Amino acid sequence: MLRGANRNLLVLAAVVLALAAGAFFYLRRPPPPALAFPPEKVKGFFHKYGCTNCHDTKNPLVGPPFAAIAERYKGDPRAEEKLFKSVREGSQGKWFNPNAVTIYGIRKVMPAQDRKRVPDLELRAMIRWILEQAR
Ligand code: HEC
Repeated sequence: MLRGANRNLLVLAAVVLALAAGAFFYLRRPPPPALAFPPEKVKGFFHKYGCTNCHDTKNPLVGPPFAAIAERYKGDPRAEEKLFKSVREGSQGKWFNPNAVTIYGIRKVMPAQDRKRVPDLELRAMIRWILEQAR
């Protein structure tokens, strides 16, 4: 049977193998969940959460077009966090005079979106999608 040095070698081999397997699965872990949504699904979120009532990709509605938002924050490494915060907490005065209203009397402000209504992962996916719309 295995004794002494041979047995130690076997234990060492087992440990090395376990570490290698661990590293393999660690490196193969899936990308952050927000990236796991296909673009078609993300587009659906904008409808589902009512963003499209006020935003279009190219045309100004109540809110600025997503392409204009992407353009404005292009190259800003903190863009994702800033926009996330704007949607969560609401925003006014960054794009329009906050007292301005549309012809339908809608104030040109971004209403805060509660995480109970718009979950974190889906919002993050939407923000990333918006930031990809720069021309
Ligand atoms: C009631 C209309 C309305 C709805 C609904 C709405 N927005 Fe907005 N949004 C606005 C307006 C108006 C602004 C410009 C706010 C300002 O001037 O600061 C804006 C600004 C933004 C900005 C840019 C913020 C910044 O800091 O520059 C983002 C991103 C955004 N909206 C995303 C969304 C998303 C995502 C949704 C859906 C969950 C949504 N909006 C729903 C009206 C709306």
